Formats: sequence, C-alpha cells, structure tokens
Amino acid sequence: DPEETLRPRPPVVTIMGHVDHGKTSLLDALRGTDVVKGEAGGITQHIGAYQITTKDKQKITFLDTPGHAAFTEMRARGANVTDIVILVVAADDGIMPQTIEAINHTKAAGVPMIVAINKCDKPEANPQKVRERLLEHDVIVEAMSGDVQDVELSAKTGEGLDKLIEAIGLQAELLELKARPDRDAEATVIEAQLDKGRGPVATVLVTRGTLKRGDNFVVGTQSGRVRALVDDKGQQLKEAGPSMPVEVLGLGGVPSAGDNLTVVDSEQRAREVAKY
Ligand code: GTP
Ligand code: NA
Ligand code: MG
Repeated sequence: DPEETLRPRPPVVTIMGHVDHGKTSLLDALRGTDVVKGEAGGITQHIGAYQITTKDKQKITFLDTPGHAAFTEMRARGANVTDIVILVVAADDGIMPQTIEAINHTKAAGVPMIVAINKCDKPEANPQKVRERLLEHDVIVEAMSGDVQDVELSAKTGEGLDKLIEAIGLQAELLELKARPDRDAEATVIEAQLDKGRGPVATVLVTRGTLKRGDNFVVGTQSGRVRALVDDKGQQLKEAGPSMPVEVLGLGGVPSAGDNLTVVDSEQRAREVAKY
C-alpha cells in the first residue's frame, strides 16, 4: 500500500510458554476477565483472540495459544500474524520443554520477544535463575545486558502488569506498525468451527483494510457474505479495522486456520474465485 495512506495499527502480541506457566491468567489479568476458570481442566484448547485498550488509550491485540504439546503446529502458525511474542516463564518452574519450543518458534519467525517472568508472588520464585537459564538458549534479557526486555510480574496479584504494557508499547513503537484502513479488507483465519446455532464461524485477524457487515469475501475454498461481526466481548460490530480480532458469521463453510480472507466486489465474484 502507498506510504501516504498508511496509519498506525495496534500490535498483535502472541502469548507463548510452557503449559500452566500462566498465559491465560496473564491475559485474564490484563482484560479483567476469568477465562481460566471456564476452561476444561484449566487447559487452553483453542486460540483466544482479544483486544485491550490501555490506560493511555493504546490498543493491543493478544493471541493466547494452547499450551498442550499437540497444538505445537497451531502455535507455529500463530507466530505468522504476530508482531511481538510474550514468552511467559513461571519463576518457580523455570525453563521447560515448551519454553524452549516457544523460543525456537519465535526465532524462526523473526519476531521480537518480551520475557514475562510470571508467578513472582510465589515464595519459591527465582527470576534470576530464569534469566540465567535463558542465556543457554541465546535469549539475553536487558537485566543481563542484552536487548530482550524482561518483566517480573504476577498474574495473580497484578504486580508488574503495567511494566509489561509499557514494554509492549516500547517494542511496538520500534516496529512502526502501519496498515491502510480505507480499502477492502484482508484477514487471516485464526480459528474456525461449525457452531450449532450460528453455523460456520471464523475468528479472523484483520491485516489490512476494514472488514464490514455486508462485505462479500473469499476465504480458502469458501465464499461468503459478512452477516455479523462479533468482538471478543460478544458485541456486534459494523466494521473491524487493522489488527482487530473478530468473529465472522456468514461463511459458506468452515475454513482452515491460517487461510486468508479477501473481500471481493460481488457475491458472484466471491463464488467464482472460491472455485479455484
Ligand atoms: P495452558 O493454557 O494450559 O498452557 O496454561 P496457561 O499457561 O494458560 O496457565 P494458566 O493461566 O491456566 O495458569 C495455570 C495455573 O497457574 C493456574 O492455577 C493459575 O491460577 C496459576 N497462576 C497463573 N499465574 C499465576 C501467578 O502469577 N501466581 C500464582 N501464584 N499462580 C498463578
Ligand atoms: Na492451564
Ligand atoms: Mg491457557
């Protein structure tokens, strides 16, 4: 897109880390919600996509990735729409296999990382040991004279959350994230399923342009027309701009995670393009 039509867009931040290190708890704390309690066995089974507005009116989009090993592939895909990775490491448990996996995914994707050293409220927390062990994986945090921002926090008490928000803001500024809002939308499917009442539903992340109710689109091999857009609080929206995660209703079928959604100018065109 031409430079003059580009506008700043919110950062898309993916939260990664070992199972039970507190990824969802951290997001709950940031959003003022309690998603963890509603999860079967306290295990995240699908990617959650949320947007928060900070005290100084900055928007941040978060993707919460499943911690279970079977979802490694989904997580790897998640990194592709990601501007910044937050690596959550529990300060009592330290570096674990999925921590190392997350580091490798992040490095492979070339995405900047912020280390969130969580559970610092626990008596057995040892944040310094976490920093030292990270060195072995070539993650050198600022406290060890490197350039990876690290924040000590507790999702339980809320301590350090403002520092994390600050760190994200700093990193996002360096990245100069921009997109053009005034064009037909493109979006990436984060996850999709067949909903009993609502039919095929896809959670997408808008990457360029603005997705509007009534837009005709192609997504993977499916075509559709936006019947409703629903945000992470269940609110219906008329439109969704760059970096906005939103549920799309009005799909002809269930697309796959990672599929690209493109708006086209007519229903007929949507059907034609979807055929190929
Ligand atoms: P998966 O999605 O299953 O990988 O787990 P997760 O990384 O999302 O962790 P989750 O938020 O489910 O937290 C796991 C457990 O750690 C829960 O019992 C939380 O209450 C607890 N927990 C999370 N953050 C903190 C913290 O800062 N301090 C303490 N003491 N407990 C925490
Ligand atoms: Na958990
Ligand atoms: Mg979780």
